[in-house]
Amino acid sequence: MTSNRPILTAEDMDREVLATYPTEAFNSREYLAAEKTLLWPKVWQMVERMEDLPDVGDWLTYNVADESIIVMRVAEGEGAEAFRAFHNVCPHRGRQLISVPAMDSGGVHDVRGKGRSSFVCGFHGWTYDTEGRNTYLLDPQNWQNKLTAEMTCLSTVKLGLWGGFIYINMDPDSVSLKEWMGRCGEILEHFEFDKMRYKWRQWAIYPCNWKVAIEAFLEPYHISGTHTQLLAFGDYYAASQQYGWHSVSKYDTRDDQFKMAQASGTVRAGKGGDPRVSTYELIRENWETVMNTASTETLVNAASRMVDELPEGSTPAECIAHWLKSAKADDVARGVIWPEIPPEIQAESGLAWGIFPNQNILHGVTFASPAYRVRPYGDDPNQCIFEAYALERYPEGEAPVTHWVEAEKTEENWGPVLMQDFANMEFVHKGMKSSGFRGPLPNPHQEQKVINLHRNLAKFVGRGQPRHLL
Ligand code: FES
Ligand SMILES: [Fe+2]
Repeated sequence: MTSNRPILTAEDMDREVLATYPTEAFNSREYLAAEKTLLWPKVWQMVERMEDLPDVGDWLTYNVADESIIVMRVAEGEGAEAFRAFHNVCPHRGRQLISVPAMDSGGVHDVRGKGRSSFVCGFHGWTYDTEGRNTYLLDPQNWQNKLTAEMTCLSTVKLGLWGGFIYINMDPDSVSLKEWMGRCGEILEHFEFDKMRYKWRQWAIYPCNWKVAIEAFLEPYHISGTHTQLLAFGDYYAASQQYGWHSVSKYDTRDDQFKMAQASGTVRAGKGGDPRVSTYELIRENWETVMNTASTETLVNAASRMVDELPEGSTPAECIAHWLKSAKADDVARGVIWPEIPPEIQAESGLAWGIFPNQNILHGVTFASPAYRVRPYGDDPNQCIFEAYALERYPEGEAPVTHWVEAEKTEENWGPVLMQDFANMEFVHKGMKSSGFRGPLPNPHQEQKVINLHRNLAKFVGRGQPRHLL
């Protein structure tokens, strides 16, 4: 019915034109096959944090769809030149150089190790140095000595660094990572993610398409219906906005009277008569029920003291100013220095970013949490690899040692709020297969990040374009 309506443009999105998109992106095997050849080998994607490869010779595999990439540190230093990335395949007869088992339940998150100076293929013993050059092959005379270095070297992959994350792009003709990140990258650089470290990280195989999973964390519009308990503490009305490849959401207000108490990110006043109390309660509720995220212990503790430190009748703006000042001082005392973020950047940075295609980050001055990455699982459009993590800024040398942990989907592992999200994901995925579903009706103001995901996916996959609804 809508298939001959105009394709939605970025300008249409800025005007909040009503839109819809087809559901094949979620459930069609053809679409999944198209992603394998047209999306994953073409986009910049986050591999891992740099600090996971601290020493020369440290390496790991990044696996997505049918692709496996070896990423390795080959030199000291903080620049991209200290790393190399190669396709994980031997040029002889195509054995994976590093065997990567499926990420089944009970499987491994990735394969990684230390102290490597070469890769030896397990099949016929061809050997490669850390630049990917072939250093040994048996009986080259059998090829009449006609094999060249270009024929026998590993295939290299582009690598870039941003915010302490390692990214790769398998497309040699792709734009630079800096260009890809664009304004989103410029804004978030102020938050110095590179100085943050993992607080925790965990993953699970989940029974829904990877896009259903990432979309479950792209918009606060679902909070009223899903996380009803949170409404007692704050208003969760949020605008959303496309930024080219990427998108942002920002707390907004339906009611202008509330504007004074409202800010676009997590630092904002709570709902209730006394902002000294309500602001603390809002931040504490998120902290306790969303896996110790969306703030830090310093911020929660400083908020808890406001009722003692500020006079009755303090305004929301006074509370926020006092809260930030005292949290900042607490952090300085323990060796955590806040980046200076210009107010206009703070405002533009909003609440959370969807970084195309599969990375979500909710950011703050000393944290990036919760953050998510989702990847497809095997050949099944009905399953995905769901990963969540928290980054935080720590005093020098005090970051915890963490590893990727497979976490069963229990409230103990994921907290009550994510369990509520999980309870939707599987059934959104199922529901969209109904012959009675006429197609999504995304909210053009609050769910633009979801629409933008599909708009950008279509640019790669060549199908599934969002179109005007009317
Ligand atoms: S496939 Fe690697 S040496 Fe033969
Ligand atoms: Fe949620």
